[in-house]
Amino acid sequence: MYPIWEVPHLTAGMVLGLIATFHILPSHLSVSAMWLNVWLERKAVLEGRPELMPFVRRYAKFILVFCYVFGSLSGVGIWFAATAASPRGISALIHNFVWGWATEWVFFLIEVSGIFVYAYTFDKLDERTHLRLGLVFAAASWLTMVVIVGILTFMMTPGAWNTTGAFFDGFFNQSYWPQLFFRTTSMFSIAAVYAVVVAAREPAGPARDFVVRAAGLWGLAGLALAAPCLLWYRASLPEAVRGTLDALLTPGLKAAMLWAPVVTALYFAGLAWRPRAARFVPALAAVAVLFAGIFAFERARELGRKPWVLPGYMVSSGFVVGDLPAKGAAAQLPRLASEGVLASAPFVPAGLRTVTDLNRVEAGRMVALLECSACHTLDKAGVRPLPALVRRVGLSTPEDLAAWLDGLGAYPYMPPFIGNDADKRALAAFLAKAAE
Ligand code: HEC
Repeated sequence: MYPIWEVPHLTAGMVLGLIATFHILPSHLSVSAMWLNVWLERKAVLEGRPELMPFVRRYAKFILVFCYVFGSLSGVGIWFAATAASPRGISALIHNFVWGWATEWVFFLIEVSGIFVYAYTFDKLDERTHLRLGLVFAAASWLTMVVIVGILTFMMTPGAWNTTGAFFDGFFNQSYWPQLFFRTTSMFSIAAVYAVVVAAREPAGPARDFVVRAAGLWGLAGLALAAPCLLWYRASLPEAVRGTLDALLTPGLKAAMLWAPVVTALYFAGLAWRPRAARFVPALAAVAVLFAGIFAFERARELGRKPWVLPGYMVSSGFVVGDLPAKGAAAQLPRLASEGVLASAPFVPAGLRTVTDLNRVEAGRMVALLECSACHTLDKAGVRPLPALVRRVGLSTPEDLAAWLDGLGAYPYMPPFIGNDADKRALAAFLAKAAE
């Protein structure tokens, strides 16, 4: 185990979540935007429509700054936060997917250097070479997603990996293709929304109208194709994930998942019908609506895989609860149930390793940090605060709470209690005190 990163009120996972939420905007744009841009550039070059080029240049600059400054920085932030919040989870993922990430970084390098070359060589390369460069960038950018989706879906549906431990069994799991198609189709609506933001700053005229109408149609097509892919994706999820989602999805998230695509589709239809009406502020509002939608989908994905980092193997708190014979890894549960978590976790202060009447509550807080703080704050207010939730369960004595902890694994979204009797009674004493 590693030291614990305790973030008051928020939890470490939520810090990661906040950075990842911002990262959603530039990362989703980068994979899709250049397809639309290259399509427009192709029209300008092959059909002799140079009036489209000012938009193409402006959109290229926008992609460069937004995706490859803000996007790249927040991407690095995700790695830092994830490593500190969930070191064992990241370690397990890297041990499995190091070549997956290495492959992604090859495409990422092409992408990052490609956008600079593309954006600064409009007047320096001949038109067709420049166009090809745009295509190389668009393909490399999409390919980063092709790789990342394998790792993202693995974290929800690891496929046959739990028995074989093999890279490709985990990578091409049951939700890989549906999610890849869903992201690939819906990404065009993301490119379209941003294109309208950029186009709205262009002078009014037929060129701007053309771009706005094209964006509206691309966006509509993306949403229409994404709808069946979403159903396909839903059907690929295991019963357990759907049960967790039923328990945890809030009405707000459900509403955002339904209404964001509907409102965006209406906006696109309006643009295709009357492109001249496109304005900057409504376009920004459309980005906000889309963001709410993507946020809800990503949040649902995160909620649906609770309590797992790697389903069937490792839970969010970093404990290995399932065997992985193919890799010679054994669950820690039986050992911890006899030796105890406090006695064996490496970063427990010496004075808390043995529970006594004097240190029981403090030792229990340590158990809560180890086992519960991945999802709950221990403070009175904040993210799923333990004191308030314990009060909600309606148990107040340490004895009742200890008995309740025995059934913790029956909740679809929580890991079972891990440890021996002394750990459990210490945690129960802490929970009783916290909820007073
Ligand atoms: C993988 C994430 C996760 C971990 C780890 C976790 N919980 Fe939870 N817990 C949840 C979620 C999600 C809820 C639902 C919160 C809600 O309904 O608002 C929840 C709910 C609860 C509730 C309220 C249950 C009810 O019936 O209303 C209590 C009490 C609780 N957790 C205690 C704990 C304790 C104690 C630990 C550590 C031993 C723990 N949890 C570990 C995710 C987790």
